Amino acid sequence: MANASGAISLASVSVRSEKSSAASISPSGFFSLYRNPRRMLSLRCDATVECSSRSKSRLPRLVGMGSKLVGCGSALPKLQISNDDLAKIVETSDEWISVRTGIRNRRVLSGEETLFELASDAAKGALSMAQVSPDDVDLILMCTSTPENLFGDAARVQRELGCKNALSFDITAACSGFVVGLVTGSRFIKGGGYQNVLVIGSDALSQYVDWSDRGTCILFGDAAGAVLLQACSEKEDGFLGFDLQSDGHGEKHLNAIIVDEGELPADSNDAPDFPPRKPSYSCLKMNGKEVFRFAVRCVPQSIEAALDEAGLPSSTIDWLLLHQANQRIIDSVANRLQIPSHKIISNLASYGNTSAASIPLALDEAVRGGQVKAGDVIAMSGFGAGLTWGSIIVRWG
Ligand code: ACO
Repeated sequence: MANASGAISLASVSVRSEKSSAASISPSGFFSLYRNPRRMLSLRCDATVECSSRSKSRLPRLVGMGSKLVGCGSALPKLQISNDDLAKIVETSDEWISVRTGIRNRRVLSGEETLFELASDAAKGALSMAQVSPDDVDLILMCTSTPENLFGDAARVQRELGCKNALSFDITAACSGFVVGLVTGSRFIKGGGYQNVLVIGSDALSQYVDWSDRGTCILFGDAAGAVLLQACSEKEDGFLGFDLQSDGHGEKHLNAIIVDEGELPADSNDAPDFPPRKPSYSCLKMNGKEVFRFAVRCVPQSIEAALDEAGLPSSTIDWLLLHQANQRIIDSVANRLQIPSHKIISNLASYGNTSAASIPLALDEAVRGGQVKAGDVIAMSGFGAGLTWGSIIVRWG
């Protein structure tokens, strides 16, 4: 089992890089190359690709900054599928689904819609609320387990948004992806001098669900959500504490494993192992009961660890915002942490489990709906395949 918490404390150590640039490990624990912090992460581009943004750093040399959430956005597919709609294709009922999960509707990609467009639209909403120009975005983190390109969608989103000065890459951590992305973004700000970081959670699990399996197909929907995380002074720091965990022993309870059942290429020369068969992913498989038990046991512990790191009691939480998987999980965690129901953010009934999108989607609705206000403390927690789980205590605005 691996774990990471915000309680990282390293003495400042200076080292020399190959090109004699001063580098250090800051007290935040983040490795920082002062001369050009971004250079160590950039790749050599093809000559036809515009590389100017890589050749000069706009990033200040500061480390040890705080970060705050200043914008959010979300996007949904048009097609709505109700529990009654599902009852036409599998043996189930609106009553069973709503009582066991709290879900009544979900949105599913259809027609010409793509996940990449949803992610881009959500990001545009976050930039607009934050009043940040695409030119000023330094980093785009695309948290998804269902990219449309095997090599990731982040750079496509970057291109679509016109964020020509940004570095972009994908993060895969299933339903914990957004929480992992938010922690990653805050570390780039804290130790790397990055100013504006877009964190996007976006998934289309409808494409990996077995629509004849009533145990899983009733749960999932597609969506995208995004936030803009911005550098600020230590005093204004809204990123109060976090806890991240993973445990591969639980992979058997929730996965969509690659299978090589494809056709042998025609020119395979009778060699059984070469060329390799074209692989594809199996549909999502889940032991619902085990995942349920894992969530109600680990999520409260994780939130308590993040609160501990923040030095705050659970009574300071204004909003509990969990990955939207099952209303019974949300209620059980709230109960365990003694958080009253009026402090729970939940839109599960409308959209089901949208994986990495569920937290930023619910946050966006709560902010735009006037529930979450500047200064409110939110406890966010994601959990899912891996198994992975993690929590963040954050102040909005
Ligand atoms: N409609 C009607 N009956 C159903 C359905 C359905 N859709 N699904 C299952 N049943 C039946 C089962 O066959 C079983 O019948 P039986 O008693 O005759 O055998 C009965 O209902 C009970 O089934 P369970 O699977 O035991 O139902 P449970 O109460 O555990 O609920 C559920 C299932 C909703 C999936 C729940 O276990 C759950 O929410 N688990 C957590 C899922 C989760 O949080 N995932 C998050 C991560 S997702 C990610 O990371 C990608």
